[in-house]
Amino acid sequence: MKRLSYLMTSGKSRNAIIGAACVALLSCVIINGCGLTESESDDATEGNASNTSNVEASLQESQTYDGSEVTTIGISMPAEQLERWHTDATLLQNLFEEAGYDVLISYGDNLIDTQIKEINQMIDNGADLLIIAPVDSDSLSTCIKKANENNVPIVAYDRLINHDPNLLAYVSYDNYLIGQLQAQFIVDNLDIDNSISDISYNIELFSGDAADNNAMYLYNGSMSILDPYIKSGKIKVVSNQKDFYSCSTNSWSTEIAEEKMQIILASYYNNTTKLDAVLCPNDSIAIGICDSITSSYHQDNNVIVTGQDCDSANIPYIQDGRQNMSIYKSLDNEALATFYIIQNYLNGTSTGDDLSAGLDSNITITRDTTSYVSDNTTITAYLLTPEIITSENIGEWSSSNND
Ligand code: BGC
Repeated sequence: MKRLSYLMTSGKSRNAIIGAACVALLSCVIINGCGLTESESDDATEGNASNTSNVEASLQESQTYDGSEVTTIGISMPAEQLERWHTDATLLQNLFEEAGYDVLISYGDNLIDTQIKEINQMIDNGADLLIIAPVDSDSLSTCIKKANENNVPIVAYDRLINHDPNLLAYVSYDNYLIGQLQAQFIVDNLDIDNSISDISYNIELFSGDAADNNAMYLYNGSMSILDPYIKSGKIKVVSNQKDFYSCSTNSWSTEIAEEKMQIILASYYNNTTKLDAVLCPNDSIAIGICDSITSSYHQDNNVIVTGQDCDSANIPYIQDGRQNMSIYKSLDNEALATFYIIQNYLNGTSTGDDLSAGLDSNITITRDTTSYVSDNTTITAYLLTPEIITSENIGEWSSSNND
């Protein structure tokens, strides 16, 4: 069986990291953005990250691989039904199999218990290293314990795993930035900053599944842009569903979003109240919103709808203007970055150093050692940069990518 050794870094890099940890500590105190009520949400929009705790974070100790054999990589994705997770699993599988590893794949069916059972089974079946995108960022404690006992390192993929101070790395896109891009798109496309003073805009807000850590980052990013306009009265959320939990959408479900939007439209948007935009955190929710606008909104303005993922089902919606934007996150790059990070680690690079070294220089990746905290310990995040896709650049985008 393998053994992970946790080695302290050299004095020089340790000092650098302690400096970084002070920033992390400060941001933890400033940010404290989870579990928001409506009034608390004001504070949550201040910083770049939302951590689950306001207890001071300590610096994660560097881990160095002890050289024991790793032959099997276990990949656990939250659900096969949502397009992206199936693609992520396949891309990761191809990369690791081509490099000679055996790969086990499991999907959580969007159910916490199923994912826990599947992960435990992968450990029993010989997984030496796990790549996990959790259904619920808070509920994997039993798997983490089992993995630690069996010296199986874990990489948090796309979604942070809370309560694991030993995470090897967190690989994702910058979700706070994505939330900002979506909200700024609404502000720019309604030209709110240039509007005459007594005009206000009606916007409805949706957030993702509250159990997914990313949902809060997206919401906080969006609210960092929208909140000043809401406070000044320039933007009105007519339904008054503004705080993270009232906006959240279980399992990021299209059907739940559609049903909720229909109720909002029937209750608040009659023939005289105009709906200007809907903030949608991702494409599965955007489809539900677009469909309910088509069926149940009876005015003739184009309602601005945002999204994320560039799912193939959303492409016609973007092309014909029902959905005005999506965020493209290259899953190829996310899988490749994860592959490099793991390879570098297994080749002896310490987690205190840049594990993404050697990755194609055309792929922009930021190593963030301060913003992400699991179990009050800072986790090194590797964040890729998203792109905005609209009807204007979708043609070019479709012909240049094959995710
Ligand atoms: C991912 C999104 C995805 C959503 C629903 C989030 O954690 O970052 O890309 O749309 O989950 O699966």
